[in-house]
Amino acid sequence: QMRNALNDLSDTVDNPDLQRKFENEMDSFFSLFRRYLADKASGNTLDWERIRSPSSDEVVDYNSIKSAENTSNLSKLAVLKLNGGLGTSMGCVGPKSVIEVRDGQSFLDLAVRQIEYLNRTYDADVPLLLMNSFNTDNDTAKVIKKYSGHRIRVRTFNQSRFPRIFKDSLLPVPQNYNDSLDSWYPPGHGDLFESLVQSGELDALISQGKEVLFVSNGDNLGATVELKILNHMIDTGAEYIMELTDKTRADVKGGTLISYDGQVRLLEIAQVPKEHVEEFKSIKKFKNFNTNNLWINLKAIKRLVEQNGIQVEIIPNQKSVSVDGNEVNVLQLETAVGAAIRHFKGAHGVVVPRSRFLPVKTCSDLLLVKSDLFYLEHGALKLHPSRFGGAPLIKLGSHFKKVNGFQQRIPHMPKILELDHLTITGNVTLGRSVQLKGTVIIVCSDGQRIDIPNGSILENVVITGNLTI
Ligand code: UTP
Repeated sequence: QMRNALNDLSDTVDNPDLQRKFENEMDSFFSLFRRYLADKASGNTLDWERIRSPSSDEVVDYNSIKSAENTSNLSKLAVLKLNGGLGTSMGCVGPKSVIEVRDGQSFLDLAVRQIEYLNRTYDADVPLLLMNSFNTDNDTAKVIKKYSGHRIRVRTFNQSRFPRIFKDSLLPVPQNYNDSLDSWYPPGHGDLFESLVQSGELDALISQGKEVLFVSNGDNLGATVELKILNHMIDTGAEYIMELTDKTRADVKGGTLISYDGQVRLLEIAQVPKEHVEEFKSIKKFKNFNTNNLWINLKAIKRLVEQNGIQVEIIPNQKSVSVDGNEVNVLQLETAVGAAIRHFKGAHGVVVPRSRFLPVKTCSDLLLVKSDLFYLEHGALKLHPSRFGGAPLIKLGSHFKKVNGFQQRIPHMPKILELDHLTITGNVTLGRSVQLKGTVIIVCSDGQRIDIPNGSILENVVITGNLTI
């Protein structure tokens, strides 16, 4: 039934070139779908008893890697940012990577500045690749025009566009190639390998003498090129390196590396049997988690894709979406790039400092990265030297969920160098030059407002009720 439905869909494409491309895409989707059904039928799950903690060879400490002075390996490097995601969760339209994060610059601007600096300083030619999705491609194309005079080659390619399927019938939502965007989805960053090959970008990189691809989430401001890891990768001949970082209580849900039948594997919370979820979250047994900063050998990608050798766990993502004005329950089958680690030779993890994991997922994260806690150096965010310990814990309520609301209420970033914990909920605004220290909690009840005046210094206080100081 699915095969027929996909054939019918293909008949709706009128241009022969597009049709060929579309059919290839639907073949990939179909094999993903078949694998999903087969896994579901066989109950293909991990045997918890066979999970071992990784050995010191499988997960290496960053500090044990010898320091890099050699910059010649930069000629073998290309950088890729995963750029398929939208800014919807932060209330923005368009690609997430174009949101302004610091000093008028977006995620993309910062990445470009970092690599440009690298190229200038070491007389290198490290290209920046963006893996877009059909959701982000047009807007990204407009934005990257401005980098054309810069010392950096920016290349883009698209990941696949797969049909969402109805949860009940498991048949495709779109009836026509041109059906609305809501009928389709980008199938997760695990799609990188296939799309890199299909687009021709992989062969192009290999022919330029590139060997290693440094991949990271577009919204991780800590994911800068690290020569020490690049050199370690080349010296050890590893085909895949995953950067992990130590867990804190705030990030118990991240995937972790395990040793399984002598293989290094990524274990995601979705694969963990219910009765072991608490154990998975504990900091004791699974000490670190995947930052999604990955170093991958390009020839190994080519070999594996040609052998059809990358078959990673499928993450079924259930959603309720509005298709042509109707709410429908759909399923989208996704994969993650980190799960492919088990297919690569010599693959291992490196536990890196927390500074290499600085994701911006919410406006609370935005407050942090815009604040005086950090300063910018050639496009890279650096922690202020007088800050001890990690970042403060910041929780902003629903009034601050969207970037617009956040900007209106906190137009000027407070000084937070000495802050440990901040909670703000309700109709609260902060004035200019506010300083926050220790634990600050501001809770405004419904229907009321609290305005914190310019120049206030708040230290270890709880402010509630209706207050206009
Ligand atoms: P996610 O939205 O998946 O963030 O995007 P996350 O919840 O932190 O996810 P994981 O645990 O890493 O999966 C992570 C990065 O992947 C890109 C997004 O643009 C973002 O940079 N992405 C995600 C794609 O490029 N394509 C996709 O299909 C999904």
